Amino acid sequence: MLRTLRRGLPADCDALYQLEERCFDSDRFSRRQLAHLLTRANAINLLAVAEDQRVVGYGTLLFRRNSATARLYSFCVDPAARGTGLGRELLQALEKAAQGRGSQRLLLEVRADNRVAMGLYRRMGFIAHRWLDDYYADGCAAWQMDKRLDAPEAPDAASAD
Ligand SMILES: CC(C)(COP(=O)(O)OP(=O)(O)OC[C@H]1O[C@@H](n2cnc3c(N)ncnc32)[C@H](O)[C@@H]1OP(=O)(O)O)[C@@H](O)C(=O)NCCC(=O)NCCS
Repeated sequence: MLRTLRRGLPADCDALYQLEERCFDSDRFSRRQLAHLLTRANAINLLAVAEDQRVVGYGTLLFRRNSATARLYSFCVDPAARGTGLGRELLQALEKAAQGRGSQRLLLEVRADNRVAMGLYRRMGFIAHRWLDDYYADGCAAWQMDKRLDAPEAPDAASAD
């Protein structure tokens, strides 16, 4: 599937809302939260757009003043577009965008039961360093993971998970 990556615009709010509905069972953003994210100066929203202009993935980075750590605040790929390398491509582009903004470290939280996302993060060089009990609305715990942005990806992708 051909797709391009571009920055999110306020007009993408509905498309992101619908994408979130397809991607997450709980802890989804409201339209209001998404509208806010799409206009925040301290956020970068990167969208993957298919040939027919459908938004098939997105990730949001948040930045704090005087901090070299960026946070991956949201990240998902449309179920119909998964398993084709888009998640990895989007994550690589997000890392580059964070580096471009001067960040030296990327931080994220992931559900402890989300093996696919955790596997991808590990193979991309993220390290789980903190367990967060009862982190999500349904009581699921999270792993906090981070990556130094100059760090290489794990050398052996097959055995790293
Ligand atoms: C996590 C997610 C973004 C991955 O997107 P994707 O486009 O399928 O990712 P890719 O095709 O680039 O695959 C990434 C890796 O996961 C592996 N993978 C993908 N789907 C898989 C599956 N169902 N089972 C096992 N491995 C899988 C791929 O083989 C690939 O391995 P590699 O790193 O060795 O290349 C996607 O599954 C998703 O949106 N999940 C729901 C939302 C979510 O969990 N977001 C993360 C919140 S922290």
